[in-house]
Amino acid sequence: MNDFDWKKNASLKRRAQSSTVLLIESEDPKRIDELLAFVTSKEFPSKDYFNIDTKEEPKRACLDPWEGMTQWNGKEWIPAETEGSVFGGIAGMDLATAMRKLDGMIKQAPTIAVVKGISNQDLARAVSLALQNWSTHPKVLFQKSTVFVVTPDSLLFDEQTRRLCVLIEPPFSTEEERRAMLSEIADAFKQKYDKLLLTASSGMTLHDLETAALESIFKNSKVELSAITSAKMDLMRKYGYELTYPRLGWEAIGGYQTMKDYFRDNVIRIIKDDVARKWGVGASRGILLFGLGGTGKSLFAKVMSKELGLPFIKVSSADIFAGIVGETERKVKNLQKVAEANAPCIVFIDEIDQIGLKRDLVISTDSGVGRRAMNMLMDWMGDDERKSIIVGATNLIAQLDTAFIRAGRFDDKIPLFPPDYEARKEILQVHTSVVRKVPVDVNFERIAEKTAMWSGAELELLCVASARTARSLGKVAVTSGNFSDTMKEVTVNLEKREKEIKDFVATAKEYASNLRLLDEQLKEYLTKEKGEAIDRLKALKKELQ
Ligand SMILES: Nc1ncnc2c1ncn2[C@@H]1O[C@H](COP(=O)(O)OP(=O)(O)OP(=O)(O)O)[C@@H](O)[C@H]1O
Ligand SMILES: [Mg+2]
Repeated sequence: MNDFDWKKNASLKRRAQSSTVLLIESEDPKRIDELLAFVTSKEFPSKDYFNIDTKEEPKRACLDPWEGMTQWNGKEWIPAETEGSVFGGIAGMDLATAMRKLDGMIKQAPTIAVVKGISNQDLARAVSLALQNWSTHPKVLFQKSTVFVVTPDSLLFDEQTRRLCVLIEPPFSTEEERRAMLSEIADAFKQKYDKLLLTASSGMTLHDLETAALESIFKNSKVELSAITSAKMDLMRKYGYELTYPRLGWEAIGGYQTMKDYFRDNVIRIIKDDVARKWGVGASRGILLFGLGGTGKSLFAKVMSKELGLPFIKVSSADIFAGIVGETERKVKNLQKVAEANAPCIVFIDEIDQIGLKRDLVISTDSGVGRRAMNMLMDWMGDDERKSIIVGATNLIAQLDTAFIRAGRFDDKIPLFPPDYEARKEILQVHTSVVRKVPVDVNFERIAEKTAMWSGAELELLCVASARTARSLGKVAVTSGNFSDTMKEVTVNLEKREKEIKDFVATAKEYASNLRLLDEQLKEYLTKEKGEAIDRLKALKKELQ
């Protein structure tokens, strides 16, 4: 909707008689001002919009549960007049009485009403019967009256009301609006404005952007990119998501050359390829990474975002499900809104099995909440217009609903094997020289040989624990001896692990979306082994063939 004025969209819907009541979902004071300016502007009551005869000026009323009712006198909003009220007009009335008053107005004469400040469920309940009544009432239709209801969250209203009203979701801000605001601020403070600010501020409301920009000016006498980015991160935290700009790229992943090549050629290159876009063959926008714990699923998602230069929004499925009934759907809806406003971006949904469980695996106390949330997520994923790239991670792909993971939602389903010998060697290096700077005097080949079937996470722990030991002994570098000592403490149950890997390979064969990639991954995993695991893996290989 970014290119299309949301107010025009609203009036179009009203004109087409889809409903006389329009729910405007926004909490941005600038948007509310804009709406009030729009309903009182010259262009509003013209034939073009509402087909109302311009000779017969419609009345304008605005109702706010706290501020009471005001009317437009052609120049400004003034308190509505009533007879005999002790408190000076409708301002002193309760909401129900004011709604009754409004009811009379919109049924008797062409009226444009704005009901704003419906910010909680009690208020939504208090007005919902009226809205239902108005939405299709012949008199309201006849008078061509129109009611705008401004709420921060349309889910505060019950389903019936939502069905009868038209929902309008103004964008947080459009690029033009942000450009205008930023250059205005820059002009006012005699500065040049940085174009990077424009992209960095996508997904912010104009109000939030203005606040952040002015704050930065007062502090450092210029609008700094970092100020805008960090304001945006704070905002996202308020919504319950973590937004970051990952720092580390391919260099942070040890091994996994096959996977890196695959991502480079099939995801990253295609996303950046203008010709492919013209052909209408964008890259996959749904990628599901599955594998045993600690094999780098989260890491791959993060690195992808760095390599693409896109913001990374991390969502934990458990967080989506925490909270009271109704909250879950709200969170999914919010996620969609926030992600699309920040798009293109990577939305990483960890432990996605918590959302997309098979029907028969959903616990019965769930009362359909999970189902509805999953349906909402599925709708979004299948939406052709979706601009964000969704990356999901799970250890339990076999438990996911098949509709949830089908192509079109998750085009790519990619298994992540535990690291092979080469990968282990590199992971040890990465965690001592890229992610951290730990001076080492160690033969990593030997350690890689001795850690067959370990996960990346376990290898990382090994590095960190060994470095701690070395420091506690006052050493200036970590030695092989420190590593050997730690290995005695970090135990991996190899028998259990072997079984897990066996099961995982079978699952990978069943679910991987790209068989050629799987083939190469298997080859890499089963043939490049060295050291103590060779015998075990040979047996495994035989069994798998
Ligand atoms: N190939 C790798 N190279 C470097 N580090 C790795 C690699 N694989 C895993 N790690 C490290 O192991 C840790 C765990 O990785 P990550 O969180 O990505 O695993 P995961 O598959 O998401 O695990 P889980 O299923 O438990 O969520 C990370 O800190 C990461 O840096
Ligand atoms: Mg993870």
